[in-house]
Amino acid sequence: MKTVLVIFGGRSPEHDVSIVSAIAAVIKPLELLNEYRVEPVYIAKDGAWYWDDRLKDVSLYRTGQVDQLMSKSNSPWLEFDGGLQLVKQQSLGRVRKQRIDIVFPVMHGSHGEDGSLMGLLEMAGVPYVGCDVPSSALAMDKVLAKQVAGANGIATGTWVWLTKQELTSDPTRAKAKISSLTYPLFVKPAHAGSSIGITKVASETELDNALEVAAHYDSKIIVEEAVPNLIEVTLPIMGNAEPRPALLEQPLTDADTFFDFETKYMHGGKKKMPGKKGGKLGAHGYSNLPAKLPGDLYKQAETLGLDVYRALGCSGTARIDMLIDSKAGKVYFNEINPMPGSLYAHNWRAAGVSGTELAKQLLRLAEERHIEAEKIQTSFSTNFLKQF
Ligand SMILES: Nc1ncnc2c1ncn2[C@@H]1O[C@H](COP(=O)(O)OP(=O)(O)O)[C@@H](O)[C@H]1O
Ligand SMILES: [Mg+2]
Repeated sequence: MKTVLVIFGGRSPEHDVSIVSAIAAVIKPLELLNEYRVEPVYIAKDGAWYWDDRLKDVSLYRTGQVDQLMSKSNSPWLEFDGGLQLVKQQSLGRVRKQRIDIVFPVMHGSHGEDGSLMGLLEMAGVPYVGCDVPSSALAMDKVLAKQVAGANGIATGTWVWLTKQELTSDPTRAKAKISSLTYPLFVKPAHAGSSIGITKVASETELDNALEVAAHYDSKIIVEEAVPNLIEVTLPIMGNAEPRPALLEQPLTDADTFFDFETKYMHGGKKKMPGKKGGKLGAHGYSNLPAKLPGDLYKQAETLGLDVYRALGCSGTARIDMLIDSKAGKVYFNEINPMPGSLYAHNWRAAGVSGTELAKQLLRLAEERHIEAEKIQTSFSTNFLKQF
């Protein structure tokens, strides 16, 4: 039986979302499958790692008992011995060791989904699920992602970017870049997610404030023209060389009150979407699944999503968000999530892929990519050292 290490939590605003994603969409389905041994590693908000079987239970976090567990536990360490072993000091001088065959990182946002954890796993030479280092890093930078997509002929809308440094040292010049854009605008930190630090700006009088907010969260800022007659859609995709799309999904948001953290994640609580009828309540709120679009527009968005996946070099899985100008019938790439919340399992289910099948397929894709990468790794010998 192969051992899968599931890593979740982390130093990110989406820490709590990651716990639910990992337990509901990965750990539980894999345990049901009974084909893998599942080891959980939880990264606390302060960055400390914990490895304990009890971390597979969501009630531990809900009740706050996780704090007691952490206060009584030693953190594990990783042994890079040509593969990866997880090691932990037990009581009475005993040591627990576990060889890891595949890693399933279920991290959202900074310090995990951005390629940093993937770099560690590359160094260990262990197969891991999801996008690799460069595609994860690209995905977490809205400017870089749009630049690479644009260079591949993909429509990204009209936008400019600037640095916090430019804004501080020469605000007039920095703002001149923005003067070519037509209001309303969206001002966003390049890296933050979950709509943190994003402002919709109706006119120039509101611009300074929006730039200040974005610069508070990031040293890099993107300013975009608002897409009019907006329909938002998102497309989960899985695969390596031959990516396959799930269903195009249409989150039901108002064009004017754009998606905020609460709208996205808090539907399990009391908040409802007033006046929204017909949509289904999915992992991230109400949505039309599949999106209600004319056939040609649906196809256009699906094709654009797949093009982005390939252009950014994604593998394993990712979810592509797009903005559609419904009157012009034009689709724009907005952003990409390399590790969609709860793997977007509700969407895959509707597309005919069960939760267990999804987790299993992603493990298979991780191993497939690892084998491919090994094939092109050239080991070479030289006489270089003989001269010393
Ligand atoms: N250029 C744009 N035109 C119209 N709406 C936009 C634009 N950019 C962002 N939005 C709205 O703001 C939301 C959040 O922006 P997004 O870039 O997706 O940031 P986040 O990383 O926080 O999800 C989008 O889901 C959309 O509703
Ligand atoms: Mg978004």
